[in-house]
Amino acid sequence: MTPGVRPLVAGNWKMNGLSANLSEVKAMREAVDAGKAGEAELAVCPPATLLAQAAWALRGGKLSLGAQDCHAKESGAYTGDIAAPMLKDAGAAYVIVGHSERRQYHSETDEQVKAKAEAALKAGLTAIVCVGETRAEREAGKAIEVVSRQIRGSLPAAGAFETVVVAYEPVWAIGTGLTPTAADVAEVHAVIRKLLGELYGAAGAKLRILYGGSVKPANAKELLGLDNVDGALVGGASLKAVDFLAIAATYA
Ligand code: PGA
Repeated sequence: MTPGVRPLVAGNWKMNGLSANLSEVKAMREAVDAGKAGEAELAVCPPATLLAQAAWALRGGKLSLGAQDCHAKESGAYTGDIAAPMLKDAGAAYVIVGHSERRQYHSETDEQVKAKAEAALKAGLTAIVCVGETRAEREAGKAIEVVSRQIRGSLPAAGAFETVVVAYEPVWAIGTGLTPTAADVAEVHAVIRKLLGELYGAAGAKLRILYGGSVKPANAKELLGLDNVDGALVGGASLKAVDFLAIAATYA
């Protein structure tokens, strides 16, 4: 944790969820609004098809809504893509950019991620910018080098960067049940904190750095209690309100 920084626990539903699953969003909202979800800010990022319905279900409440990706342009001939102002218009406050699944399956580069993050800020969204090394990079001793390069290349240079959130998600820990050691997480987060200071000056000390990759109720306490870990980006365990809320309860 970083003193004076309110943690964020964000759920990334990925390509999961139909209208029926909005019952989970509603259960999350009820807990948050009843003050039973701890001290962290909570956000849920369902697929784009559910954003408007989720926004309706969350209206007037304290559970935030996020999207999973945006286009770098504000509008135009980009069939199938969704622009940041559209996400804002649908009710999102956050958008994840540069998730490793986007980097891997859609060949997104740091430069593109940066452009998306800048578009998000311009639209009034908070960008959750993801970075993280692959297993081969970790085993080659290159984790710090890779993450540093991604941070320098993917974070917005323009816009209201005071709201930017960074998520460190080792690719090999996503959806695998594997997690880095507490010492490895703390090491990478400390490096990210230092780089945020270089990029954004004093404001960098207060930006939230989330850990993501196989966060579960059982390991949340250890991972989220580390220095410079200001919350979590949760995939699989965010699909059920009971698990997501159990993770958030770390900040009770
Ligand atoms: P996971 O995914 O929690 O299922 O490992 C995390 C993520 O990809 O954001």
